[in-house]
Amino acid sequence: KVLILDFGSQYTQLIGRRIREIGVFCEIVPWDIGDDFVRNYGAKAIILSGGPESATGDDAPRIPEAVFELGVPLLGICYGMQTMAEQLGGKVIHADTHEYGFAQVRAHGHTPLLRDIEDHVTPEGYGILDVWMSHGDRVAQMPPGFILMCSNETCPIAGMANVDKQWYGVQFHPEVTHTKQGKRILERFVVDIAGCEKLWTTKNIVEDSIQRIREQVGDDEVLLGLSGGVDSSVVAALLHKAIGDQLTCVFVDHGLLRYGEGDQVMAMFARHMGIKVIRVDAQDLFFGRLKGVTDPEEKRKIIGHTFIEVFDEEASKLTNVKWLAQGTIYPDVIESAGSKTGKAKVIKSHHNVGGLPEEMNLKLLEPLRELFKDEVRKLGVELGLPYEMVYRHPFPGPGLGVRILGEVKKEYADILRLADHIFIEELRAADLYDKTSQAFAVFLPIKSVGVVGDARRYDYVVALRAVETIDFMTARWAHLPYDFLERVSTRIINEIPRISRVVYDISSKPPATIEWE
Ligand code: XMP
Repeated sequence: KVLILDFGSQYTQLIGRRIREIGVFCEIVPWDIGDDFVRNYGAKAIILSGGPESATGDDAPRIPEAVFELGVPLLGICYGMQTMAEQLGGKVIHADTHEYGFAQVRAHGHTPLLRDIEDHVTPEGYGILDVWMSHGDRVAQMPPGFILMCSNETCPIAGMANVDKQWYGVQFHPEVTHTKQGKRILERFVVDIAGCEKLWTTKNIVEDSIQRIREQVGDDEVLLGLSGGVDSSVVAALLHKAIGDQLTCVFVDHGLLRYGEGDQVMAMFARHMGIKVIRVDAQDLFFGRLKGVTDPEEKRKIIGHTFIEVFDEEASKLTNVKWLAQGTIYPDVIESAGSKTGKAKVIKSHHNVGGLPEEMNLKLLEPLRELFKDEVRKLGVELGLPYEMVYRHPFPGPGLGVRILGEVKKEYADILRLADHIFIEELRAADLYDKTSQAFAVFLPIKSVGVVGDARRYDYVVALRAVETIDFMTARWAHLPYDFLERVSTRIINEIPRISRVVYDISSKPPATIEWE
């Protein structure tokens, strides 16, 4: 396994995902996790991430000494390379020319890391790599024992190597796809140089998880709050495979689900997989609590609290339960861990069922804690969940509650559900669903005039929203074809009597957000 020390780069998780894609298990921990942790971890290789700090500063984050004592192969990326240089007796400077984006470096080709890896070859026979750079500082002088690995004009030391020790540093980012040979370079490092075996496959993950769950849980009973989302669904399928009937799921229908969603969840789990699912119809309770409330944050809070309340009440009826399972995934763990608190116990806040009655005293079971989203999805398919379900667009916890502007009413939710369903159905039919990252309809509680036949119509407005994004932090509105939008709009207005107008949202994030509330 590989250990990744995080110095705060926005790309650190990407390093982890690439290594896992190669088939090698890795974990990301904060850079200041401590020498003891590093010594005892048993890493076959260590990767030092990039980071926002300057390695020249006196109190710059540093690589723990234990990293150098272990004698395992090291790869410093960007800041990781810079602090490695500083700590081993080299020199880093603030460069006058910042480099950001696409660049090319000449690879000197004589180190095991980059040998025979190239995108182009110069007439003189040097390899050229297309890479992604993002840095202000750069290494000006290599530490003793290091040789130059690659360079270009703005960054004369773009890569360095101590071949005896198998310590490497690269100024560019091999983890981003813009570095075309990036994955090959990482694979060269973890597999060929560090000797890691490619054992991290979906099949193995399933088998390992099942064994671990069985050992952990024994004969105890487990409770799971099922939302219908990917993470909790995969947990349900996995736990069912591991412990069968010892699992009970509670599915709270708050009336703010998508079209047919409640029935789909029940059909998928209870009917096909034989999983015990208790469906709680709490629609009236939720609509009652939301009556007259218009503030988005207030709505979110009410939905969250009411959810916990209903879940608790159901849970307290089950007397033998010892464990509470949650769909916490690795990015949640990393994000909430942060520096200095690497061992913190983390509970996904919107899944947090912290309101459970004290006397239940449940232990937390989080079988997806080590997995990235793409791994969770593959696991879902391996466990037999339908592809369509596993690769569905994300859906917010508060559901349609944040897609009905202002006060939430059942009448509005019913209209919105139909409009949203038509939009999604057409996206799938036009093969556009997988090309957008998230798409949905939004209900606007304002009335607009229309004409149907000879009659005047005065009814509600629906907005369509579709975005393309990688990380949901920034997003571009999807440039859907006009004739497609026309078809969706015509269907919505013709098939849903209470809608007189359809508009398309052309705002990107930032400055807008993906959801309207
Ligand atoms: P925004 O609207 O902030 O959305 O651009 C980014 C992503 O987060 C989802 N989202 C939520 N998910 N509870 C959730 O579980 C929420 O309250 C919530 N608000 C937004 C949104 O659907 C998008 O994928």
